[in-house]
Amino acid sequence: MSKYTATLIDNETGEKIELDILHPTQGPRAIDVTRLYRQTGILTYDPGFMSTASCWSDITYLDGEEGLLEYRGYPIQELAEQGSYMETCYLLLNGELPNAEQLEEFSGQIVHHTMLHEQIKRFYSGFRRDAHPMATMVGVVGALSAFYHEYMDIHDEKNRYETAILLIAKMPTIAAWSYRYANGVPFMYPDNKLGYAENFLHMMFALPSEEYTVDPLMARALEVILITHADHEQNASTSTVRLAGSSEVNPFAAISAGIASLWGPAHGGANEAVVRMLMEIRDSGKPLEYFVDKAKDKSNKFRLMGFGHRVYKNYDPRAKILRELCHKIIDKSPLASEHKVLLDIAMELEGVALEDEYFISRKLYPNVDFYSGIILLSMGIPMNMFTVMFAMARTVGWVAHWHEMMGDDKTRIARPRQLYTGKTHRDYVLVDMR
Ligand code: SDX
Repeated sequence: MSKYTATLIDNETGEKIELDILHPTQGPRAIDVTRLYRQTGILTYDPGFMSTASCWSDITYLDGEEGLLEYRGYPIQELAEQGSYMETCYLLLNGELPNAEQLEEFSGQIVHHTMLHEQIKRFYSGFRRDAHPMATMVGVVGALSAFYHEYMDIHDEKNRYETAILLIAKMPTIAAWSYRYANGVPFMYPDNKLGYAENFLHMMFALPSEEYTVDPLMARALEVILITHADHEQNASTSTVRLAGSSEVNPFAAISAGIASLWGPAHGGANEAVVRMLMEIRDSGKPLEYFVDKAKDKSNKFRLMGFGHRVYKNYDPRAKILRELCHKIIDKSPLASEHKVLLDIAMELEGVALEDEYFISRKLYPNVDFYSGIILLSMGIPMNMFTVMFAMARTVGWVAHWHEMMGDDKTRIARPRQLYTGKTHRDYVLVDMR
């Protein structure tokens, strides 16, 4: 029992109930409504979960007002500037940064699971060549359920951890192969002498017919992209993984559900939508103000993609990191001039929007997706692979939350209620009487 409570008085029935106030390590307090319906028969209503905490979690902390993001207490800026993605994966899964020996052992575990069962190749040939790579990802990751039966004891902590390792290890191979298949290029197997980011770029761009050396600058840029996208507390796709996982489904199916949720342009699909918007602005010959006004026009579905966030009411700290990274690598890009124009438009658009009352009053700032696409383009990664990159990076966050949830013996199946607005009771009428 908490020592503080909130009193709810139902003026319609005169009923009164004391509800515990819950206190996290940091961040907003919560009113515990777990027993509200059972004791009063009244539900809470919160579509989109604007004011709802769905769980306790030790993994990631966001402060939307201050624009803070911490993985297990470590600020994203320090992890992105000084750390590696493997360190971040270890941290998110285990709760502490690894020492040198732990990091070497963890990286070795990952490396030994990068290959896919040879039969999985056949799934790709079932897709049209022009299938969106996210469709392939949803299908192939879900199909892992058919191959890794030995990883199905979700109540065994060691088994769950091994499954997390397996998924983190295989995502780059699955992702790169979706690109290779779409382009009619033979699959490249992982080269386990390479680091995680290098191995992915190798599988994406190396050809069996010639030497290929990964550009260390692009590999580091990919590491920063992976670190900044690794986790983000209870976002839509992570909540999807938790909800799917709460039915005790196997982890491959739960992660496949998360990939599907991430695909939406309101979520992880925004990075692709941002670059398409910047290209539309570039090619339209219209002033930026035209697009900003369109985004403000309620009668128009158009939004400034890469702007706004459910939690951040300040600049997304990841957008700051990625904006700086943009400037670092844009000139190294094979198509520097074309991509530089997009970065210039993005910077100008940000400037116009952040001085506009509509955006200021609604606290709409650039989010993680606003600059990430320009970086990926500069690395030679095509637009339809952008959300695949996000899914590859976020896999560690998804499995960390799944692992945390399945390790909590208070976890039960997630099953929200509703406010019914349909027809009240009526009897069946025979068809010739209607
Ligand atoms: C990600 O949750 C996470 O943590 C997600 C993520 C992660 O790491 O997992 O951070 C990754 O998904 C980032 C967000 C990527 N999506 C986009 O960039 C798409 C564009 N943004 C919006 O669709 C929107 O801002 C959301 C979806 C991100 C947030 O939506 P909310 O919190 O439901 O906010 P809302 O739609 O209620 O908007 C509040 C107001 C509305 O205006 P009013 O009704 O008050 O007049 O702001 C307006 C909206 O119309 N608004 C925008 C806008 N975003 C919000 N207006 C123009 N352009 C926008 N981009």
